[in-house]
Amino acid sequence: MANHNKAIKISKKHLLGIQDLSISDVNFILSEAKQFINLNKSKNKKLDILRGKTQINLFFEPSTRTQSSFELAGKRLGADVMSMNLNNSAIKKGETLVDTAMTLNAMHPDIIVVRHQDSGASNLLSQKVNCAVLNAGDGRREHPTQALLDALTIIDRKKKIEGLKIAICGDIVHSRVARSNIYLLNMLGAEVNIIAPSNLMPKDIQKLGVNSFSDMKKGVKDCDIVMMLRLQNERMTSSFLSSNREYYEYYGLTPDKLNFAKEDALIMHPGPMNRGIEIDTKLADDINKSVIKEQVELGVAVRMACLKIFCE
Ligand code: CP
Repeated sequence: MANHNKAIKISKKHLLGIQDLSISDVNFILSEAKQFINLNKSKNKKLDILRGKTQINLFFEPSTRTQSSFELAGKRLGADVMSMNLNNSAIKKGETLVDTAMTLNAMHPDIIVVRHQDSGASNLLSQKVNCAVLNAGDGRREHPTQALLDALTIIDRKKKIEGLKIAICGDIVHSRVARSNIYLLNMLGAEVNIIAPSNLMPKDIQKLGVNSFSDMKKGVKDCDIVMMLRLQNERMTSSFLSSNREYYEYYGLTPDKLNFAKEDALIMHPGPMNRGIEIDTKLADDINKSVIKEQVELGVAVRMACLKIFCE
């Protein structure tokens, strides 16, 4: 495996958002991730690239995919990985994010992976610690490793991103996944269609260089990829929807709406899914169209690449 020099290949100390990355940073991360795909399918998955390094996972919001894949990624690279159980931590006694970070910093970790409900939390933390910080999702701002794993999945299936037409549909206003994907897909040359009801669509969305639609059939027309998003109920301060049934009728991915996309269009979803609300359950499991499981699989490779690059 190639032993790249981080100082030459990537200039950033932290991975806080796609917006901070250059196209060569992105290509470097994706090329490193590709090298881990086969390793993750092999019987012996253990490397010692990060032997002697300490990784702390600090998840202030629930997570299945991101936390477990960061933990597996660190262990497969040989790091000592500690996932904080925040339910049993001093956070419960009122300790702040900054005090928690400074306490952990005193133990000399090499990398902290953080998910937090506040937009900008990972940036704040990165200013308070000596080690590298990887953003595993901050509020509605960014989820950079999700966008990177989505890009790797698209490239794996379609062999390119440039020139593809990609629809992102659902709760855009609350979605860090949407924002990171918009930045990354635009950077890599895709045409991005954003689809949402007006109250789940950011008012200034067109400033991000995308096409916006309230009619899902028009938005997915001739698309190569249809990426569905979860309704972020936990971030909704008032009632955004009249009913789940009505939402599904207009914005759920069903076979009749998917028919407007290209015949070989792929379905993506970052998870967790609300079956029967954002997506028809048979479509979610359709092995010819859905790449949702592949997104999860490639997420480990992307996180291994990020840990290797930012921890070395
Ligand atoms: N896609 C994603 O971030 O999933 P988790 O919330 O399970 O980590």
